[in-house]
Amino acid sequence: MKIKAAVVREKGKFALEELELGAPRMGEVLVKMVASGLCHTDTTVLNQDLPTPLPMVLGHEGVGIVEEVGPGVLGLKPGDHVIMSFPSCGCCEPCQDGRPYACDRSTELFFFGGYADGDRRITDGEGAKVGALFGQGSLATYAICAERSAIKVDPEADMKDLCSLACGAQTGAGVVLNKQRPRPGDTYAVFGCGAVGFSAIMAAKLCGCSTIIAVDVVPSRLELALECGATHIINGRECEDVPAEIKRLTGGRGVHFALEAAGLGILVKQMVRSMRPDGFAMVVSFAGDVPLNAGMDLVGSCVTLGGTVEGAANPPVFIPRLVQYYKEGRFPVDKLSRYYKLEELDKALEESHNGSAIKPIIVF
Ligand SMILES: NC(=O)c1ccc[n+]([C@@H]2O[C@H](COP(=O)([O-])OP(=O)(O)OC[C@H]3O[C@@H](n4cnc5c(N)ncnc54)[C@H](O)[C@@H]3O)[C@@H](O)[C@H]2O)c1
Ligand SMILES: [Zn+2]
Ligand SMILES: [Zn+2]
Repeated sequence: MKIKAAVVREKGKFALEELELGAPRMGEVLVKMVASGLCHTDTTVLNQDLPTPLPMVLGHEGVGIVEEVGPGVLGLKPGDHVIMSFPSCGCCEPCQDGRPYACDRSTELFFFGGYADGDRRITDGEGAKVGALFGQGSLATYAICAERSAIKVDPEADMKDLCSLACGAQTGAGVVLNKQRPRPGDTYAVFGCGAVGFSAIMAAKLCGCSTIIAVDVVPSRLELALECGATHIINGRECEDVPAEIKRLTGGRGVHFALEAAGLGILVKQMVRSMRPDGFAMVVSFAGDVPLNAGMDLVGSCVTLGGTVEGAANPPVFIPRLVQYYKEGRFPVDKLSRYYKLEELDKALEESHNGSAIKPIIVF
């Protein structure tokens, strides 16, 4: 079938093209897109900060309606509403163990453009194969994804605000709810208030954290953080010593838990130095090298520093929970949404980069 999609053929540029999408194969579904969120990782691929094979259809936070199912699909049928989450092989040890975020084939399935059988589903006018980011390529009118990545949601839910549950919100909330698991009264700091950081703030509030500190450099984002659960905000551009300020806000002790979701090695260092003894800090961005002194910053201070993919989530279990929290008003990701048409993708990317749009959502 013919589709319209946002394709990257060279670093830093994309175009809307008419392409041919094949039929869903074994264990796959064809989805008519309702909306697709933009996550910073789309920009990472667009700018080839993480080199990937090109051409590639962008988009990995798709929500839509199942149009057709391939052979062997038992859990979904045409008309079902789905959130398209990250791909995994389903066969390796972590997948079999319910930890698909640690799939042996994650890098390939996320970034190389093919599906689990190694092949692509999209071709262009010249008959050349085109990749689909995260085994979906959701910045397109239709997309194919594996049944195991397509999470069925209540048809009553307004799908367009649920896009980020596929990646960004799942990542931020998952770090808190799946990995760190703070207890009521614990303290939390978030470095970088994009969709990922905001979701961690909302999840820290859900857990009953008493002090939740948001660090960013965009004043409007910091103000919104206060509405979403942060108890204190720090503008990293105005504050001379962020770790000292975090210690001051936590009775001189530092925070129990923290997350870096901005993508800067220097912030990872600041985060580690903001922890209380035995604190647990996590990174989810592609922050690069971190200037840490392992003996002093980690060993002597008993700080655990870790990283994970997609909030260590098993989407069929975790995403329905997030949808439930959303419906209860306890996970208000819609506060982050700003809507665009596919033809306005340029504007959506620009407003994401200049800080004004936290979760740009392309609505089809
Ligand atoms: N590990 C995963 O599975 C996973 C999943 C999704 C996203 N990510 C990554 O997580 C990161 C966050 O994603 P996002 O979509 O929320 O990104 P985003 O670009 O929307 O948010 C980043 C935030 O960091 C802030 N920031 C920039 N410089 C800062 C500084 N010096 N001090 C404090 N804050 C600063 C920005 O103002 C912005 O609010 C990205 O690196 C993305 O690639 C990882
Ligand atoms: Zn993402
Ligand atoms: Zn696997």
